[in-house]
Amino acid sequence: MNFLEERIMHDGVVKEGNILKVDSFLNHQLDVELFDQMGAEWKKRFEGIEVNKILTIEASGIGIACIVAKHFGVPVVFAKKTQSVNLDGEMYTAEVESFTHKNKNQVIVSKKFLNENDKILIIDDFLANGCALQGLISIINQSGASVSGIGIAIEKGFQTGGQIIRNMGYKLESLAIVESMDPTTGTVEFRGQ
Ligand code: G4P
Repeated sequence: MNFLEERIMHDGVVKEGNILKVDSFLNHQLDVELFDQMGAEWKKRFEGIEVNKILTIEASGIGIACIVAKHFGVPVVFAKKTQSVNLDGEMYTAEVESFTHKNKNQVIVSKKFLNENDKILIIDDFLANGCALQGLISIINQSGASVSGIGIAIEKGFQTGGQIIRNMGYKLESLAIVESMDPTTGTVEFRGQ
């Protein structure tokens, strides 16, 4: 078991509806030392791959991305979520549907911060159905930039996102892949990596 899997076993809480609460260290209270370890691990996994910018999505991705960015020595851009968007041509936009929250958001990134020379590492906290990730990939494609890789903290391996993204040919590195969770016993099983 790696450091993140151990932390999930120790501090994660399995809720009804296949939700894993990790708000004591990943997405409400933030364990910056843990993020630093995650950054070092992704730096190893993306060794030799060119990255000049990290792209994430608000809110929970931002803290992780900032610490990871220190390991890559690159800036972070985060996609903003908005209900309505004034399409004035200055923004790349994509629609993202959340199955967890049952809502739809436009995600936007200013054209100032992404261009065809960029080699992007996408970082996010969770991968479930992959809608957020597909939105970010769409924005990168609109800009002409390329996707160097995708780093996810926790992938829910029993949902479809990971397989869809891997089938698209992207190098997706999830630090913990949850195969199953049981809210009655609180147990979490991980995919061997
Ligand atoms: P998808 O983007 O992979 O399709 O995921 P989905 O729509 O199902 O998830 C929507 C939101 O719920 C995302 O956060 C995602 O990180 C989060 N999420 C999904 N499954 C879990 C889970 O088991 N536990 C926790 N803690 N979060 C989960 P978001 O809406 O972008 O919110 P935030 O980044 O502002 O926190």
